[in-house]
Amino acid sequence: MNTMRPAGEPDYTDADFQRVRRIAQEEAGIYFPDTKRTLVYSRVSRRVREAGHASFQRYLDFVQAPGGRNEMEKLICALTTNVTSFFREKTHFTHLEEVVVPRLAAQVRAGGRGRLWSAACSTGQEPWSIAMSVLSAFPDAHGHDVRVLATDINSDVVSQAAAGIYPRAEAEAISAEKQSRFMEPYGDDALRFTGGIRSLPAFRVLNLNADWPMKGTFAAIFCRNVVIYFDEATRERLWCRLAERLEPGGFLYVGHSERVASKNQCGLEQVAPTIYRKEP
Ligand SMILES: C[S@@+](CC[C@H](N)C(=O)[O-])C[C@H]1O[C@@H](n2cnc3c(N)ncnc32)[C@H](O)[C@@H]1O
Repeated sequence: MNTMRPAGEPDYTDADFQRVRRIAQEEAGIYFPDTKRTLVYSRVSRRVREAGHASFQRYLDFVQAPGGRNEMEKLICALTTNVTSFFREKTHFTHLEEVVVPRLAAQVRAGGRGRLWSAACSTGQEPWSIAMSVLSAFPDAHGHDVRVLATDINSDVVSQAAAGIYPRAEAEAISAEKQSRFMEPYGDDALRFTGGIRSLPAFRVLNLNADWPMKGTFAAIFCRNVVIYFDEATRERLWCRLAERLEPGGFLYVGHSERVASKNQCGLEQVAPTIYRKEP
């Protein structure tokens, strides 16, 4: 089906949808079922227009030609879903404060290092929530070798995350006590993370379905609400790669609608509906 659009709207055919779908799968592991044809149009058409092309076909030829790499990254950013919030799924943060951080604190006070990873951090609400939980349970963590690695494939959201500035309305999910301890007013209607907490997170662009440059293991990994966009094989491969990056006895937190398949748990034991523990 060739969908001719009104003037100013780029042409978009089934073949274009199949092509975007292949690119999303190959570049990011993101899978779009047939039902997402319109969603793909609404996410990508702005990029097609901004890059000055009259059709998806011309735009995709450009993206896939030598020299199209920058635009390829913008296309992948346009295709990602970035919904997130502070302290999303509170039980994870309670578990982090009560179970993980005390162990991590003992480890770093004995001269070791403490590493946590927010593996699809979006605009940063997740890693900043992790950092607030760490400092609540371990107030001098920023004086020790403790870091929260925060990564995402989308460079735009990683930049926003690193700025650490949020509208007041969004920060309402943070208690008044934590707001006054970790944030300061910024402009008319925003708050900004300030003080020692800023030394905890390290923000990087990283594709979960490519090679990972970092070495070492993590006391806990948050990989939440991202594998829902991957196909099953990609998901299962990722769980095992993440399990390899956990310390013995470390924890993996997944999204509310995500599960590690029971047939292949990669040494992960389910300890709560969305919490897994690596064998000690
Ligand atoms: C819905 S958000 C989840 C944010 C946060 N983890 C949470 O649960 O609130 C999904 C994030 O996964 C990122 N993402 C999608 N594919 C990715 C990939 N292959 N590698 C790394 N991040 C990816 C998207 O850019 C997006 O920011």
